[in-house]
Amino acid sequence: MKGVILAGGLGTRLHPLTKVTNKHLLPVCNKPMIYYPIEALVSSGVEEILIVTGGNKAGDFLQLLGNGSEFGLKHLNYTYQKGEGGIAEALSLAEHWCGNDRLCVILGDNILENSIAPYVDEFRKQDRGARILLKEVEDPERFGVAELNGDKVVRIEEKPKNPRSNLAVIGVYFFDSHVFDIIKTLEPSGRGELEITDVNNAYIREGTMRASRLTGWWTDAGTFSSLLRASNLVAQGGANKMQSSTKK
Ligand code: DAU
Repeated sequence: MKGVILAGGLGTRLHPLTKVTNKHLLPVCNKPMIYYPIEALVSSGVEEILIVTGGNKAGDFLQLLGNGSEFGLKHLNYTYQKGEGGIAEALSLAEHWCGNDRLCVILGDNILENSIAPYVDEFRKQDRGARILLKEVEDPERFGVAELNGDKVVRIEEKPKNPRSNLAVIGVYFFDSHVFDIIKTLEPSGRGELEITDVNNAYIREGTMRASRLTGWWTDAGTFSSLLRASNLVAQGGANKMQSSTKK
């Protein structure tokens, strides 16, 4: 399985922090934001990684990450998204690199408490299609929200005013290579973007979408409050680890 980290976009919700740098290079607790999705992939055994970046500071990624030796990697791949055409547009840039492989896609501003290894394993066992991860949140209107019938996801709504559940679709997605055919059929949404939610709804219509419930905390870091929350959650996790190691 290959890993794609989407770190394009202009991060306008974080102005002026993102006026002279890319959102994913900002600090979350003691590390640049982009470190977290890289570590999530590497620690679950996904070591062929492509980073999609953008904006006018894209070269800083190379300076920061190089070929990924800090993460135990021999090589990192990069590509560039012009402008802010949406998450699905950013993913389409990975087509030539992915070939027929399966993908684990992580949004560059998503940070998780626990390893994603169990979901990587679940998707390896799935014969085809896609898999999403769901997490209960207090503010579902900020996210893609799953509508369920029993255990089955029947639809996802992007940032609904009246959410039909409190289950957010988090920014870790598993796709087979059919995803690139689906992206080619998409039209820009009201906000002018190719939406990952439209990709997921296409898999739901085809009957090949599966969903898992995420354990542990998860947050994005794309607004001032979620960026602060991300730092606090990571710091809290570090403090808990230190406590348990001093107890030993
Ligand atoms: O965090 C999970 C949520 O992420 C999902 O629940 C939503 O369904 C999904 O649409 C997305 O929502 P946001 O509106 O919060 O996404 P945002 O525009 O902040 O983009 C998230 C990341 O995706 C960003 O850190 C980099 C990447 N991205 C985004 C855009 C718009 C790109 O690489 N290129 C882009 O053009």
